[in-house]
Amino acid sequence: SSLRGKGVWRYKDLIAGEYKRIVTLNEGNTPLIKSSNYENAYFKFEGANPTGSFKDRGMTVAISSAVSLGYKVVVAASTGNTAASAAAYASRAGLKSYIVLPKGKVAIGKLAQSILYGATILEVDGSFDIAMSSVMKLYKELKIVYPLNSFNPWRLEGQKTIAFEIYEDIGVPDNVIVPVGNAGNIYAIWKGFTELKSAGIIDRTPRMIGVQAEGASPIARAFEKGLDKPEFVDTPETVATAIRIGKPVNWKKAIKAIKNSRGFAISVSDNEILDAQRQLARREGIGAEPASAAAYAGFLKLVNEKRLDTNEKTVMILTGHALKDPEAMAKSEAKRILVNPEHIDKVVLGEL
Ligand code: F0G
Repeated sequence: SSLRGKGVWRYKDLIAGEYKRIVTLNEGNTPLIKSSNYENAYFKFEGANPTGSFKDRGMTVAISSAVSLGYKVVVAASTGNTAASAAAYASRAGLKSYIVLPKGKVAIGKLAQSILYGATILEVDGSFDIAMSSVMKLYKELKIVYPLNSFNPWRLEGQKTIAFEIYEDIGVPDNVIVPVGNAGNIYAIWKGFTELKSAGIIDRTPRMIGVQAEGASPIARAFEKGLDKPEFVDTPETVATAIRIGKPVNWKKAIKAIKNSRGFAISVSDNEILDAQRQLARREGIGAEPASAAAYAGFLKLVNEKRLDTNEKTVMILTGHALKDPEAMAKSEAKRILVNPEHIDKVVLGEL
C-alpha cells in the first residue's frame, strides 16, 4: 500500500502508537545534499517537505493520532512552521485547527500558509513562550482540544525518521548539527539514532550539536557556562524568528541528547546567520530560512575555530525552506540593474 512507499510511514514498524487512520501528505524522504565546498559535509534539506519544513514529519503522526483517538479540534503554539504544518494536516483530516502565534513575529510565508489552509489564528502580545503557555492552559482546561506542540510525543516519533533516512543514505555521520528552538527536534533525531543502535543496526550514534541564535540561546549558554540547566530568556530576539524562543519546553530532553552523544551547543549571531544563509544559497545553491542557516553558521564557526574536524562526516539539518521568510531573503545585497533593452548586451559585457 502507499504506507510502504517512501517517507515517514515507510518506518511504520518503528513508530510507536496504534493508528486507525493515517493522515499523510507523503512527507519525508527529503534529499541529503552533499556540500560542493566541504568534502564530508551534507545538508538534509527539510524544506522539501509538503509545507516546507521538518514539522510535517511529526504532524502526520500527531494528526493521525488525534484522528485515531476521535479528536475534532487541534491547537498549536508556533513561531510559524508548526502552525503551517498543523493547519495543513488538520484540514486534510477534516479537523478544526487553532494556532497561537506571537503577534508580528511570524515570517510572512508561514502566516500566509496558515491563512491559506484555513486555521483560526489567535495572536498573543509577547513571545512564543507566552503562546506556548496559553496552549498548555487551553488544553488542560478544555480536554476536547488536542495539542500539537512538540511535548506531544507523537510529533517526535515522526521527526526521528530524519535519523533513519540519514542512516540509509550515508550510514552514521560523526556529527549532526541541528538548529534549536523549543528543543524537540535535536532530541527526536538523537532518539532515532539511539533506536537504531538498540536494534543492533548501528554501533554508535553521532555527536549532536545544537545551534541557537545569540539573542535566544538558553541551551547554548548553559553549555558555555557549564550549567546543569538553562537560564531562561524573558525577551528572546533574533532574525531567525523560527527559533526566537526563551523557554524551550523540551530543554531536559535536548540536554540529555546532547550530553549522551558527547555533543555540545553553541550560539551564533544574527549577522552570522544571514551571512550563512547567503553563502548556502550562493555557494551551494540551497535556499533555507534563517533558523536553518543557523546550522550552517554553526558549522562555519566551528570549522573556523578548529573545533570541528572537516575529515569527519557532518550532517546539517536545514529545517525550513527559504521561501518561508521572503523578508529575510531580501535582506541580502542584490544585484539589480535597470536596463534599456537596447543596451542589455553592453550591460552584461560590462559585468563580465
Ligand atoms: N528550524 C525551524 C525552521 C523551526 O521552525 C524550528 C521550530 C526549529 C528549527 C527548532 O526546532 O523547536 O524542535 O528545537 N519551530 C517551532 C514552530 C517552534 O513553532 O514552528 P525545535
